[in-house]
Amino acid sequence: MKNTLSIENIKHHLVSEYPLHIFDCVDSTNTVAAEMASNGARHGTVIFARRQTKGRGRLGRSFASPDSSGIYMSVILEHSSGNPVLITTAAAVAVCKAIEKVCNHEPLIKWVNDIYLDDKKVCGILAEAVTNHKSGAITHIILGIGINLNDAALPPELKEIAGAINGEFSADQLAAEVINQLMSLTDGTDFIREYKERSMVIGREILVYKGGFSPEVAGTAAHALDIDENGGLIVLFNDGHKEVLSTGEISIRF
Ligand code: BTN
Repeated sequence: MKNTLSIENIKHHLVSEYPLHIFDCVDSTNTVAAEMASNGARHGTVIFARRQTKGRGRLGRSFASPDSSGIYMSVILEHSSGNPVLITTAAAVAVCKAIEKVCNHEPLIKWVNDIYLDDKKVCGILAEAVTNHKSGAITHIILGIGINLNDAALPPELKEIAGAINGEFSADQLAAEVINQLMSLTDGTDFIREYKERSMVIGREILVYKGGFSPEVAGTAAHALDIDENGGLIVLFNDGHKEVLSTGEISIRF
């Protein structure tokens, strides 16, 4: 599927109005959004790009953003609008609900916030803070969301692990529904319950990589017990100690 996002079509599906900007090509919508936030863009402003040359992922990785083959978007949230730790958790639920509603698929969430369909990652979420350069205080959270819509466009080296949402649906409607769901969830809904219902991790044997996955580092074997009220993953390591993980990465063993 080709992404032919237009502001007019996205607005048509929005429950409330938010300022929208669509660029043909940027380095990263998160970078553009951070600049706009520093220059006074309001809460709920959304930046889309048809292509990113330096799409960023978590833990210093890149995010492949081939031309018109995904929804690459960043939402500017005022810092006071919610617990920043929980914002990515809420965003994962919002993206799942939008995919369920618009695309008629039932995605799952791999902790922390990767969205999977048919055992392949179809969406990544990256929240970054914007600080006031004088006081150092966090003023905004930039919530970046990348949804793959066309697996044929993904780089060959990613094809084993990354997929795309297939089927007939409107990319404009999906983009708008992500915003609708996100803005209603950050209003204080019980999204941890909704997150847990979609977790592909709870009850599974996993490997924990505290500094992020690397082929050179052996993961630590553990059992994923639950998600706590802050979105932390409660794990029981094979040596018998329990821990709540708030960052890092896991892989599922079986
Ligand atoms: C991850 O998978 O680790 C997170 C990926 C987040 C990608 C999105 S695409 C829109 C926004 N701009 C970026 O540079 N990154 C996010």
